[in-house]
This record gives sequence, C-alpha cells and structure tokens, in this order.
Amino acid sequence: MKPAPPLPRHTSRLGVSSALAFRRNPLGFLGTGVDDCGDVYRFSLLGLPVVLVNHPDYIQHVLVENGENYDKNAVLFRIVRPVLRQGLIGNADIELWRRQRRMMAPHFTPRTVQRFAEFMTEETELTARQWRPGSIVDLTDAIGQLALRIVNRSLFSAAVGPRARAFEEAFGEANTILGRYFRFPFPPLSVPTRAHRRLRSAIARMDDFVATSVRERVEAGARADDRADLLTLLLNSVDDDRAMDAQQLHDEVLNLCIGAYETTTNTLAWAFYLLARHPEVEAAVHAEVDTVLGGRTPEFADLANLPYIRMVVDETLRLYSPAYQFMRRARKPDEIGGHRIPAGTNVLINSYLLHRHPDFWPDAERFDPTRFSPERVAERPKHAYVPFGSGQRVCIGKHFALTELTLVLATIAQHHRFVAPYEPFEISPDPLITLHPKGGVHLRVLPRESGRTADPEGAPR
Ligand code: HEM
Repeated sequence: MKPAPPLPRHTSRLGVSSALAFRRNPLGFLGTGVDDCGDVYRFSLLGLPVVLVNHPDYIQHVLVENGENYDKNAVLFRIVRPVLRQGLIGNADIELWRRQRRMMAPHFTPRTVQRFAEFMTEETELTARQWRPGSIVDLTDAIGQLALRIVNRSLFSAAVGPRARAFEEAFGEANTILGRYFRFPFPPLSVPTRAHRRLRSAIARMDDFVATSVRERVEAGARADDRADLLTLLLNSVDDDRAMDAQQLHDEVLNLCIGAYETTTNTLAWAFYLLARHPEVEAAVHAEVDTVLGGRTPEFADLANLPYIRMVVDETLRLYSPAYQFMRRARKPDEIGGHRIPAGTNVLINSYLLHRHPDFWPDAERFDPTRFSPERVAERPKHAYVPFGSGQRVCIGKHFALTELTLVLATIAQHHRFVAPYEPFEISPDPLITLHPKGGVHLRVLPRESGRTADPEGAPR
C-alpha cells in the first residue's frame, strides 16, 4: 500500500491544536506545512482529514485528469452552501450542475461577454469623474460600488439603488462570518449563536435583493435582442426543452452576483495598490493607454491592443487571487504524488501558496507583470497558475472578469494615477472566504493631464 501523505511537524494528529493554529493564521499554517513536507501533505482540522496539494501536476490531476473523481462535497463548500445553495459555484449534485452549466455557458464566452463591455466602461467613467484630485479615495469601497453597478446592469439592466447597497453590506458580513467559520467550523450552523443569527439575516437580505431584482426585471418585460441582459438570457435558456425553475434561477442569479462582485472588487483594489507601489509599472500602463487609446474611452475591440494592462491583471491575480483556495472531496480512493488518498479526503488547493511556489515563480513576492509575456507563460506548466480554477469547474465568469478588469484599469488610467497616502505603505491580505486587502485600500488620487502624469500641484512629472 502507498504511504499516506506526510504530516507536518507543527500539526497534531487529532487536529485540535492544528485547528487553533489554522484559526490564528491560515496562510502561515499552510505555508509552514509546505516548508516542512513539500508539495503534498495531510493535516486534520477537528477530525476532518485534509490533504493540501501544491504542485501543478497534482492540481492538474485533481481538477482535470481525474476530475470526475473529485466533487464539491468538500468541507469548504459545505460551509458556504447555506448561502450559495444549488447554484453553480458549490453545487455538488453533478447531474444538476452539468445541466445548469450547459444552459449558462453560452452566455459567458469571450464573444458573448462583449455585450457588457459598454456598461463596464460607462460606469467606470462615472466613478472616475467623481474623484477629486488630491483627495484620498477608499478604493475598495468605490470599486465595490462600481463592480455592483456593472453586475446590476449586466444582469438586470438596472441602476443601483439602496437595495444593492444592502446586498453589498450583507455580503460583507456573510463573508466575514463564513471566513471565520472556515477557520474553525465550530459550533455547527444549527446552533443559534449570535454569529449564526447574523449570518442568517445576511442571507435573507441577499435573497431579498435577488428576489426583488428578478421580479422587477420580469415585470418590466424582457428584451430579446442582442442587448438582452443576463437574466433575460437565463430566463430563455433551455436544456432538453426544459427551462430552470424559479428557485434554481434565484440560486444562479445569487451565485453570479456573489461570483462577480467580490472577486473583481478585490482584484482591482489590489491592482491599484500594486500600481501605487510600483511607479515604473504604472508608467508603462500609462504609456500603453496613451499610445493605444490617446484619451478616448476603451472598447471591447481595444482589449487585444492592451497586452501590458492584461499582464498587470494576470500578475495581480497571481499575487492576490481573490478565490485563493478551493477544495474537492475524493469520491473514490486515489493516489497523488505516490501517496494514498482515501475516499472522503478533502483536497485543498491554495493558490496563494501555489502562485509563490519557488520552482515556478522566482522572486515570487516581486510584482512583475512581464512574468506573463507569452514566452514566459509558455515556459511554465499551465497549472502553476489557477486564479480561475481549471477543468470542468473552471470559473464560468473568467472572460467576463478579464474583460471587466482590463477595461476598468485602462479607463481609470486615462484619468488618474494613485499614490500612497503615507509611508511605509503595506497592506496585508485577510484570508476570509475571499482574499481581502486588510483594512481596505485607501489611495491619494492625482490627475493625469493629456497623457502626462501630474503631481498634486499640477506640475507634470
Ligand atoms: C477576478 C475575478 C474572478 C475570480 C478570481 C474567480 C475565481 C473563480 C474560481 C477559482 C472558481 C472555481 C472554484 C472551484 O473550482 O472550486 C470560480 C467559479 C465560478 N465563478 Fe468565478 N471568479 C471571478 C469572477 C467571476 C465572475 C465575474 C462571475 C460571474 C459573472 C463568476 C462566477 C463563477 C461561477 C458561477 C463559478 C462556478 C462555476 C462552476 O462550478 O460551474 N466568477 N471562480
């Protein structure tokens, strides 16, 4: 029989002290395990068997080659299921998931997401115009509202009102509570603690947002032309002549809101933070928009001509992947890296660690967008980089997200630059269910004038 994966020295067999260490510092706890044991090891959290895999070959095995053996009945998804229910993200019913994915995938191809590009740039222009030169902007908040407006228009053709703001607050609360809960899954959700009551209230508020938005959109009458919003497309989607029922539609819309809002907000907040700390990268971004756009608002067709900004997006997603960990459960026994994986094992993939693996990412903490030049990408195994996952469960919103991230960065770079409001300027990641910039990203906004960068007094740099 193959040996079990090694157990790092700092973990305990029963998992009580490990669970406490994991709760204090999950990324530190998992990173120490990699330092100690290498690319595959096991640990236990309060009796739950978990195996971390941190090598591109192992990740490819779990997500692609033997993907059928790994489902989403893993503990991480069980924790978020009260929020996401039967929507695509955490759905563990493989037949239902397949049907839903077949119906939804055609609306998320690189070509079909084109229809949303205009919303993305229009809303970004509005946001950028609100920033007063010299002021300090809470970018996490401003970009969060922008992302929500983009989601709202793409899904419901609706403007954002107080209801969307309530969704944002409720999601923030659920993310914090579930993030804590993932670190220490005790007591179970059925016990009526204060945090669980708050979680239930947050879920009810998110449900209310979705239910009311769907109802209003349906009452307003659907557009069936090529400008149709996502909700209309979902309402008209059929598989084997069957449409999705009202509850399934609700769950999918909620999953899309959650999938699209937080991840893009965090990525953009991290991107502006990184640009503020790396003026040489920021200057290259400005040079690209000045050459390609010359002051006009970007369009979908410009994306192919903005390769440097796209590399900035890719490198930001390497350092701070918002969906920084995901899990699978082994349905049948398997073998990874010469180690036995019993059925029922929770297999954890943590892209925060993988994207810093020294064999694939030299000087990993350095922000260097040129890592994503086509030549350097070709030198690396594909699964050394998985910000959107891989295999059959790869993020359905990947092209939507990459379009949005690149267009928002290009649009804002036409108007402003950002600088650190104080020194030393260091923001650490807060590993909730998604990876947050702890305390948010606050930056001083400075204007750009006709393609040149200006300092606060207005003198060109
Ligand atoms: C920077 C932005 C984004 C990142 C980093 C991201 C990341 C991910 C990852 C890693 C997964 C796979 C999780 C797993 O395998 O367990 C995933 C799945 C998913 N994402 Fe995204 N996502 C982003 C944006 C979006 C957007 C914009 C949408 C919707 C428009 C979206 C909707 C979804 C959905 C529905 C799934 C589940 C797919 C399935 O299992 O069939 N995501 N995302």
